Amino acid sequence: MKIVIATRNSHKAAELKRLLAPLGEEVVSLDELDPRGEIPEVEETGETLEENAFLKARAIAKTTGLAALSDDTGLEVEALDGAPGVYSARYAGENCSYEDNVNKLLRELSSVPPHRREASFKTVAAFVDGDVELSAEGAVEGSITEKPEGFGGFGYDPVFSVEDMKKTYAQLSDEEKNRISHRGKAVRSLVEKLRQKSIIAETLPTIQETPL
Ligand code: IMP
Repeated sequence: MKIVIATRNSHKAAELKRLLAPLGEEVVSLDELDPRGEIPEVEETGETLEENAFLKARAIAKTTGLAALSDDTGLEVEALDGAPGVYSARYAGENCSYEDNVNKLLRELSSVPPHRREASFKTVAAFVDGDVELSAEGAVEGSITEKPEGFGGFGYDPVFSVEDMKKTYAQLSDEEKNRISHRGKAVRSLVEKLRQKSIIAETLPTIQETPL
């Protein structure tokens, strides 16, 4: 089976490709399939992560005729009543950079002490192939640091400190992040559902089995 990863976000596509590599299926990113950008962007008009994940996967599966896998991710900060949540990509406004979003988040939390900066990352991963539609969720608890730490990853990674690890996602290697991340959990759970339904033959190593 050929699976297209329904995102133009190169960081996300790289994480997803790496996560799916052990399956032995042919996995291509949207940029590899359509390097000239002829397939239009899918607008994220849903009100939940699941709606947005399915919007993307359905649209790309329909346009390409292939199986499509997408994810939609949100960062929920307790002291901000769950914001930025489903609006994480455009928290600081349309067409803003990752840095703009991080700076806005740190500004909003400037008067919030370290012990009240709890946050969680949530991903819904969706798979669509014709009439087959499946999704799964993954979440990781943590907190927002007072300043960026580390240089890896993307998005809010430099300010998201993983509970128990005392490190931000940006301080982890790509392998380490995939092993414990919201996206890693969602994808492993989705793949397990695909395997149970015999849509794919292989499964992915569980978190415990994946060596660091
Ligand atoms: P999307 O709507 O799923 O593309 O993601 C929303 C936003 O969340 C992205 O623009 C990033 O800023 C952020 N984001 C998504 N995944 C991650 C991650 O793994 N680490 C840090 N930030 C992320």
